[in-house]
Amino acid sequence: MSKKLPVTYELYDKDGKARTGKITTPHGEIETPVFMPVGTQATVKGMTPEELEEMGAEIILGNTYHLYLRPGDELVAKFGGLHKFMNWKKPILTDSGGFQVFSLGDLRNIKEEGVYFRSHLDGSKHFISPEKSINIQNNLGSDIVMLFDECPPGMSSKEYLIPSIERTTRWAKRCVEAHKRPDEQGLFAIVQGGIYEDLRDKSLSELSEMDEYFSGYAVGGLAVGEPREDMYRVLDYIVEKLPEDKPRYLMGVGEPLDMLEAVASGIDMMDCVQPSRIGRHGTIFTKYGRLVVKNASYSEDTRPLDEGCDCYVCRNYTRGYIRHLFKAQEILGGRLATYHNLYFLLKLMKDSRTAIKEKRFNEFKAEFEKNYAMGKN
Ligand code: GUN
Ligand code: ZN
Repeated sequence: MSKKLPVTYELYDKDGKARTGKITTPHGEIETPVFMPVGTQATVKGMTPEELEEMGAEIILGNTYHLYLRPGDELVAKFGGLHKFMNWKKPILTDSGGFQVFSLGDLRNIKEEGVYFRSHLDGSKHFISPEKSINIQNNLGSDIVMLFDECPPGMSSKEYLIPSIERTTRWAKRCVEAHKRPDEQGLFAIVQGGIYEDLRDKSLSELSEMDEYFSGYAVGGLAVGEPREDMYRVLDYIVEKLPEDKPRYLMGVGEPLDMLEAVASGIDMMDCVQPSRIGRHGTIFTKYGRLVVKNASYSEDTRPLDEGCDCYVCRNYTRGYIRHLFKAQEILGGRLATYHNLYFLLKLMKDSRTAIKEKRFNEFKAEFEKNYAMGKN
């Protein structure tokens, strides 16, 4: 009999393939489907942990690659881990670096033993292996540790993908063996395979042999340059093949329409830097699509960012005021926009949970899509 894993999932309701449930971690529970704000460098840019809690965030992300380079995972360990270092008391998931390193382009070199790369900060030489990624994540003390994988570009050929998948499987074995805190930190496997159903099957079946060590499964290698239809088709195909009794995480997706499509396929967790990144630059999610609050047309607009939103920002500030903040380059502008955008996606998942529970998710999704396409701001 295998030991009880530190991160567990309980299924509540199903509506079609969409589902609600609860993930239990050493730092608390998470209602799913859930959106996870990204805090790459031990901060969700511009937001305090109190603000994140107030807007309803239940789990945030950290990044192995960035925290290893700066301030260093051993330094974070001296503060008692990432939770204490950044004063966030709820669950944290850390990505393995297997995506960030591959995004470096010419600055990296993939070998069987791991990846050699140069720092985007100062050009210094580094090496991350499966063992090192897990060791860094052990030092950070996240609740959910991602396996070190290769995330190939979305349109990679089968000739490229087959050896890549096989190497990612060998790396997965090394990650499992290197994990020093299996009672405190849950491991998530990452299914790759590009846009090919048979390769997704191959990746999943190879990883499944280590299923007893995994607290959950991620779908990686999507939203990385492939057409939307391919992403939706792959999700529709592979998600229902993942174990029903473990959480399913779609990596790097945070566009409202994509999120609803993912939920419809049975995904439980998603993350993306997009809401905070575009927010900092003045692009706002609303019920009727995106709005660029810097535009001159909003200078005298006394409405909130999104008339349907009940977040702190929408209850207290106008479009005209926030436009002014951006034009005057006041840091509050980016903060307020980030707050609203994160809230918007957290609320979208909360409303999805309610709709699934009431068995009307398809109607909810169709209504959201209709309004979002209207673009009447
Ligand atoms: N973030 C977005 N996609 C991926 C992926 O395929 N792997 C990892 N590790 N992180 C990701
Ligand atoms: Zn709002």
